[in-house]
Amino acid sequence: LQISELTPSGTSIGNKSIHLSLVIPTYKERDNIKNVVRILSQLLDEAIPGNYELIIVDDDSPDRTWEVAQSLMEVYPQLQVMRRQQERGLSSAVIRGWQVARGRVLGVIDGDLQHPPEILTQLLSAIEQGADLAVASRHVEGGGVSSWSVVRRFLSRGAQVLGLTILPGVLGRVSDPMSGYFMVRRSAIAGVTLNPVGYKILLEVIGRGKVSEIAEVGYVFCERKQGESKVTWKQYVDYIHHLLRLRISTGRLGKISQKVDFPIGRFLRFGLVGLSGVFVDMTVLYLLSDPTTLAWPLTRSKILAGEIAICNNFLWNDAWTFADVSVNQQEWRHRLKRFLKFNIVCLAGLVLNVLVLNLVFNFLIPNRYIANLIAIAVATIWNFWVNLKLSWRV
Ligand code: GDD
Ligand code: MN
Repeated sequence: LQISELTPSGTSIGNKSIHLSLVIPTYKERDNIKNVVRILSQLLDEAIPGNYELIIVDDDSPDRTWEVAQSLMEVYPQLQVMRRQQERGLSSAVIRGWQVARGRVLGVIDGDLQHPPEILTQLLSAIEQGADLAVASRHVEGGGVSSWSVVRRFLSRGAQVLGLTILPGVLGRVSDPMSGYFMVRRSAIAGVTLNPVGYKILLEVIGRGKVSEIAEVGYVFCERKQGESKVTWKQYVDYIHHLLRLRISTGRLGKISQKVDFPIGRFLRFGLVGLSGVFVDMTVLYLLSDPTTLAWPLTRSKILAGEIAICNNFLWNDAWTFADVSVNQQEWRHRLKRFLKFNIVCLAGLVLNVLVLNLVFNFLIPNRYIANLIAIAVATIWNFWVNLKLSWRV
């Protein structure tokens, strides 16, 4: 699916161009949509009067959301409603909306008031100041989610880490790649073929668009007032499928795209800290498990030695490797949050370490020490990259 360029007189369908086209994808939002249109219109009538349009794209909702939406068009002249009966899906709904849009800036917002409308003005000014893409993010200062279950938080973070691993050149550029609330300059995606797979249209925009400058605005993802989320396991499967498609078609496998240069200096410091951790691990293992000292069982000693080494590494990394980042977040709650994330990432790194060690030792190089070195190298790159993006958010 492609978005057309704007001609001087307006769009390819021949009408005057305007500043913002905001697409609202809906599926069973009958009880929300009236409020959404009213609040968005009020806000945009104030910010950019007469220079915006709202485009509701409804997938033939069984609760007839499209009917309520169509009835609103008399009251709100800048509202368009598209009722799709042949296609379904969040991403394709957004793209279809953008295809009929007249705006120089294309935006998307959910139709259930979970995305606070007041952020729109901050997104608009970020675009004004030159950003190609302005993303409302839950993971920057001022961002957050209201009462999300631990499972949903874990899944969301897990999806983010998976994305960072499979598609660093794309996922590494925004703190909230899952966001469904953003604005993009039409020129950044005009003429580009966007694949309407899955739930995450933002991946397509960053992965395929000509996006050089990205701005992020923190927002708190609110609780739904009516209806329920349509996110199911299928969306998560779609998401992985989407990452792999993007990786293959954009060749961003592991290759750090030109916009995200690999911080070698920081990586070297991280590696040195890791070495000190190996030294701490070995020393504690000796003190706890050697027959001449406490002679504790090996596994218990290793777990304790590993955890003490992780604490050692965190303190050095926080005070040296990432000092420039952590210096302005010294409150205890920030440090504790960073430590917990660092710990979880490193424990996952430990699991990866053991898996790679066994894989290499049993199938590639039958020398346990060389296999262990390779495993430590893989785990160190994992620990560095994911901590860079998740714990210190560089
Ligand atoms: N047209 C259309 N077709 N709209 C859909 C479909 C669909 O198949 N599925 C969902 N929608 C609409 C919903 O009506 C809602 O307006 C919006 O897309 C988001 O759907 P939810 O089911 O409410 O998703 P969520 O709240 O769990 O997550 C949303 O916010 C996250 C954070 O920004 C989604 O936008 C996620 O993609 C996003 O990561
Ligand atoms: Mn929602």
